[in-house]
Amino acid sequence: MIAKAREWLQSAERVAVLTGAGISAESGVPTFRGPGGLWRNHRPEDLATPEAFARDPRLVQEWYDWRRGLVSRYEPNSGHQALARLGAPVITQNVDGLHQRAGSEPVLEVHGSIGLAVCTGCGREDRDPRTLLVEPCAGCGGKLRPGVVWFGESLPEEVWAEAVRISAACEVLLVVGTSAVVYPAASLARLARRAKVIEVNPEETPLSGAAHVSLRGKAGEILPQLVEG
Ligand code: OAD
Repeated sequence: MIAKAREWLQSAERVAVLTGAGISAESGVPTFRGPGGLWRNHRPEDLATPEAFARDPRLVQEWYDWRRGLVSRYEPNSGHQALARLGAPVITQNVDGLHQRAGSEPVLEVHGSIGLAVCTGCGREDRDPRTLLVEPCAGCGGKLRPGVVWFGESLPEEVWAEAVRISAACEVLLVVGTSAVVYPAASLARLARRAKVIEVNPEETPLSGAAHVSLRGKAGEILPQLVEG
């Protein structure tokens, strides 16, 4: 199985990668739905929606400040590094910035970036990791929010359009560490109709049946074998 997948990756001209929280699990970043997943102790509707922010901005800002602090301490793992060596565009649902730190290019962040602070007053954007969302905007005194996509919000238009274009045109799509249940991101794998789909995930997902090859295991172990040959 792995030999066939490796051969497809090596011979294809257009390879694309779609990742989810599972690629960062071995860096210590909690996934959303697995054991110890982020949403286990926090109901997403309490924290990751525009309504939650309107109701209790301080609670939402504090939670994201905590997560922003954690993310700066995580390091890319061997899975991120293998994908960077593969050199294919990475479409990610993750907001942790680890693909960029591993050297992947381009990285399309369809759910935004936790490293970005955005002022809800003047729209000012700030990537300084020392910025605290609980502090007022340095420019206008407005409230800061994280540059991530919340439940009920639309995806960044241009990034999404590019992700659709890349998925539809690729010959091989490598899908890593996503439960493939959150739309529209999960629809990208279904758009790749002409592509061979390789899934890397320790668990079965709704995508597994449609994948041409399902490699059951951890990204940090399988991806280096898949990319190195
Ligand atoms: P999930 O937490 O739903 O799924 C993580 C997937 O990673 C599961 O299928 C696990 O089996 C798999 N996994 C766990 N450890 C792994 C490892 N070491 N190697 C490979 N795979 C592993 O995360 P996502 O699918 O990314 O959206 O969730 C999608 C979206 O739901 C997130 O982007 C977020 C959330 O709500 C927003 O915040 C908008």
